[in-house]
Amino acid sequence: MAGLAYSPGKAIVLARGQTFYSIPDTLIADDGRSYIVGDHINSGGNAVVHACYEKSTGDSYAVKFQVELRNRRRERFEREIQLLRELDDPHIISFVASGKVRGTKMVKQHNVRGRPLQNVNRVDDVPFVVLSLAIASLAEHARSPNQIANATYLGQFIGLARALEKINCKALHRDIKPENILVVGETWAISDFGLCDLTVEGVDLSADDERIGPAFWMSPEALNKQLGCGDLIGQGSDVFQLASVFWYVACGRHPTGIVRRDDWKGPEHLYPVIERALLHTKERRFASSEAFKDALIEAVGLSNRSEHEVTPS
Ligand SMILES: Nc1ncnc2c1ncn2[C@@H]1O[C@H](COP(=O)(O)OP(=O)(O)O)[C@@H](O)[C@H]1O
Ligand SMILES: [Mg+2]
Repeated sequence: MAGLAYSPGKAIVLARGQTFYSIPDTLIADDGRSYIVGDHINSGGNAVVHACYEKSTGDSYAVKFQVELRNRRRERFEREIQLLRELDDPHIISFVASGKVRGTKMVKQHNVRGRPLQNVNRVDDVPFVVLSLAIASLAEHARSPNQIANATYLGQFIGLARALEKINCKALHRDIKPENILVVGETWAISDFGLCDLTVEGVDLSADDERIGPAFWMSPEALNKQLGCGDLIGQGSDVFQLASVFWYVACGRHPTGIVRRDDWKGPEHLYPVIERALLHTKERRFASSEAFKDALIEAVGLSNRSEHEVTPS
């Protein structure tokens, strides 16, 4: 990810696809503090993320600008901020501040032959949230040539499962994938609550054909819902997505298709828990993220014990 290089006083251009926003480089957040915008870090489906620092302390953070504002995206972003404010856990990205900045939107229009027609400039409020700064996402981290050791990831898995239990008390995340798990110092933290749905008795209420979740990391029921098979999405879907990420970390591969013990490269005691979390039929998986977390803690305890067992000579 990008480092922290700043040129205060310049306009910043937020670019995502054909949408560009020009904003001032100083943001005044709702907490009354000023944040200076720095280098671009990355862009997701809806947002552009830059490094930033707080003017009076010099502390570094990340700032996420919601640049896609059509189709209830502004409302979803407000909900994301609300959840970030409420959720307090080392394995959930930390909320620092939020606000809006006046931006000039530039939309490039084209004629039928794709030739530029004219640029439309419009002033718009761009909402943003300031977050703790991650050094990478798990997508980049897991791809690095040095394989992540069991001793490193087992503690992170438990922390993430605990964090998911907390999230599921308020919402279904629905977008768990390596890009949305950030590495903050030594800690892996769940981020990007943009696709969250506030749960009503654990049941999702979005439209039947709405795409819910990232293409490669969708649970079978999320995929079936999109195909119009009328499936319901609950905590089991988030459990499936998180277990897929665990498999990816432990094996360096996506768990496509039916998983088998022969393909598992993580600790032996963990396999039955991951296998159950990845079952195709959601009723056969864990009933809740709490049950998944409990099973994981027990399995990791067993793994640690057998690792330290001394074979009698
Ligand atoms: N707090 C952060 N620190 C560092 N990088 C971040 C942070 N938040 C997001 N990013 C980077 O920006 C990308 C897009 O952010 P994300 O919240 O996932 O937006 P979107 O809703 O558009 O997917 C992430 O995949 C990650 O690479
Ligand atoms: Mg994302």
